[in-house]
Amino acid sequence: MATIVIGADHGGVELKKILAAHLSAKGYEIVDLGTDSGASCDYPVYAFKVCDEVLARGCPGILICGSGIGMSMAANRVRGIRAALCTSEFHALKSREHNDANVLCLGERITGAGHATSIADTFLATEFEGGRHQRRVDLFDER
Ligand code: RB5
Repeated sequence: MATIVIGADHGGVELKKILAAHLSAKGYEIVDLGTDSGASCDYPVYAFKVCDEVLARGCPGILICGSGIGMSMAANRVRGIRAALCTSEFHALKSREHNDANVLCLGERITGAGHATSIADTFLATEFEGGRHQRRVDLFDER
């Protein structure tokens, strides 16, 4: 069964638990890299842990913080990572179809658990379309 690497800071830890349980129940193998408590921590630490594992395993990742913004900024500093901060199923759909996103970012203080679960399901079920979109994604690494 497919593997998903997941991580959060203290602002995203509750949503991380909900998503990990939901995805585990659907049959995914969840690699949870923390944080595991509400104690204040630094989101780039968890962003980079998850991104390194996503690249090593070639599997999708999910990063959650309060807004989703810090996680997406940090993750997109890692070469080979295409992180998409999604607040809708449409974002999730297009981030996969057009951008080949390999990390989904969510904001626990922005997106409710039911909606976040639906966004994650959409993200994980959608394939990259390739074609002209591959050419555009390839341009990321020419910078
Ligand atoms: C933590 O308070 C908060 O700044 C963090 O979770 C995230 O939203 C940063 O972008």
